[in-house]
Formats: sequence, C-alpha cells, structure tokens
Amino acid sequence: MRVFTGIQPSGDLHIGNYFGSIKQMLHAQETSDTFAFIANYHAMTSLSDGKRLAELTMQAATDFLSLGIDPNKATFWVQSDCKEVLELYWILSSFTPMGLLERAHSYKDKTAKGIAANHSLFSYPVLMAADILLFSPDVVPVGKDQIQHVEIARDIAIKFNNQYGDILKLPTFRVDDTVATVPGTDGQKMSKSYGNTINIFGEEKAQLKTIKKIVTEAVPLEDPKEFENCNIYNLAKLFLEPSDLRALEKRYTQGGEGHGHFKLYLADVIWDHFADARAKRSYYEKNQNEVREILHMGAQKAREEALPMIEKIRSATGILY
Ligand code: ADP
Ligand code: TRP
Repeated sequence: MRVFTGIQPSGDLHIGNYFGSIKQMLHAQETSDTFAFIANYHAMTSLSDGKRLAELTMQAATDFLSLGIDPNKATFWVQSDCKEVLELYWILSSFTPMGLLERAHSYKDKTAKGIAANHSLFSYPVLMAADILLFSPDVVPVGKDQIQHVEIARDIAIKFNNQYGDILKLPTFRVDDTVATVPGTDGQKMSKSYGNTINIFGEEKAQLKTIKKIVTEAVPLEDPKEFENCNIYNLAKLFLEPSDLRALEKRYTQGGEGHGHFKLYLADVIWDHFADARAKRSYYEKNQNEVREILHMGAQKAREEALPMIEKIRSATGILY
C-alpha cells in the first residue's frame, strides 16, 4: 500500500505535530510504501522571504530525519526537486473548474482573514492535486483541514480521466480519529498560531520555562489533586508507559506534591523522550551536506516514479508530439 504525505516547512516542530502527524509517518514507513515530501512551493503562498524559505526547508529536512524518517525506508524529498509536478499542475488546471476552487475552505478562510488573494493561494489545491496524482498513492493521511483538498484532487482526476482514459488513480484520504488533539500549555489545541506550544527541539532551560507556564488549578500542596483534566497529566499521558502513568496518578491522588513537581517531572519525561532525536539533530546540523545528499537521493527516487507517469500524461494529452 502506498501512503503519501506532504509537509509544509513552517518552523519549529512542537509535540502536537509529533503526536498528531510525525508518529503516524514513522509508523507508515515501517508498514507501507511511504512517500513524504517537503512542500516548499506550497509554502511560498504564505512566505516571500527567500532566505527564510530556504532555511525552513533545510530545517524541516533536518528535523524529520532526526525524528526518524528513514530515507532507506521512505522516499523523502523536497517538492521543488521534482519539477514534473509543475507540469502536471498546469495540465490539471485545464480540468479544474473555477467553482471548485472558489468553494475551497482554506482559500475562503484565508481571504476572510484579510490575507490578500493571489493566484497561488487560489490554485493551491491544484498543485496539491498534482503532488498526489503524480505518485498514484492508495491513501493520503490528512488532518481534517486537508480533507477537502484531497476531494478536489479526486474531482480533478475524474475530469481528466473522463477525457483521456483511466490514467490517474483516484486518491482516498484517511483521517486518523484515534489521534488525540494535543493540548497546549493553556489547554487549547497546541498550535503555533496560539503561542501555546512546547517545541521538540528547544533549549532545555527554555523548555522548562514553557512547561512551567502550563495552566493548572490552584490546589494546596498537601491536598489530593485531580489528574483527569489536568493539562500536565494530559501531556504526560502521551509519553508514559501505563505503569509510569499509574505511578503519576498516584502522586496526584495522594497529595503532598504540587503541580510544580509534576511540571518538573513532565519536563524530564519530554527531555528524555527526544534524547536520541536531539543527538541525531546535532549531528545533522553539523553535517548539512549529508542532509542535502539524502534529499538529492530522495528526489532521484521520487523522479523515477514521476517520470513514467508524466510521460503517459504527456502522451495522452498530446503534449508529446
Ligand atoms: P500549527 O497549528 O502549529 O501551525 P500545523 O498546522 O503546521 O501546526 O500542523 C502540522 C501537522 O501537525 C498537521 O498534520 C496537524 O494535524 C498536526 N497537529 C498540529 N497541532 C496538533 C495538535 N495540537 N494535536 C494533534 N495534531 C496536531
Ligand atoms: N496542504 C498540506 C498542508 O498544509 C501540505 C501538502 C501539500 C500536502 N501537498 C500535499 C499534503 C499532498 C498531502 C498531500 O498540510
């Protein structure tokens, strides 16, 4: 089974990203034919600082490799290193009714927020359709906000196939309902846009400072405490083995410790959890050429898949004359 996913290079990864998407990616590469790429063309729709985009692309590559994306298991590349996608994007544009894009939630939401509409923002779903359809995946795992984009890819593929025959495979999306929404330090969904994140690769001191900001109930030190709705507990739960979780519950219910103690414990748990990833990251940071080499190899693998498909499409559409 082929699993396909794109990641926008958008800065520091947080533990919401880790439990909400990266872990699933790591699982997929063990069990499926996994394709994962860094969507740097898509990132241009919200970023026009060239130096920054280049940095963010390398940061995303470094972060994902450090967290365990294995280039020998998954095909891992940067979108712009497989330019066939741009050709398909144009070809698909002729099979994309304006109304389909006008109904896209993400475009409507962004323009409603006052973000100036430009063509790339409007045609974002067409490029995403090209990403997907070029590689014929069985399934595209997505967050809820991206479902409509996969549906648009399907609609475009149907229109194309109606004209040229059964060339494009219709993608299906998968939303993993078992994945919990990770709470931020304030208890809302953890998100960069809410400023409530705990980053994966922060400095230890800064990390602790963030964790100390976690909002908790005021209960006297000696009193028993509820763990069910406690933000510290809900975060710890994501990391702990059942026996360690039971031990933490006991510390809550027996009293004698404050939330400050639990915060220190959580900080240690998180720090230890990412120890290997940190070590790998400091290696890759010093060896960025190795990261580039891995991306280059990944792009070659991706292009080996993309080329026969684009050839078929060129031939069917008459671009190959
Ligand atoms: P942010 O909200 O911080 O900008 P993104 O939208 O870039 O995060 O999210 C990238 C991926 O991480 C998506 O697949 C999304 O579903 C997942 N993700 C982000 N925040 C959370 C969260 N709090 N809980 C679960 N998954 C999350
Ligand atoms: N739009 C996706 C996001 O913001 C990223 C993306 C681009 C993508 N192309 C894709 C995801 C193709 C899945 C398949 O998260």
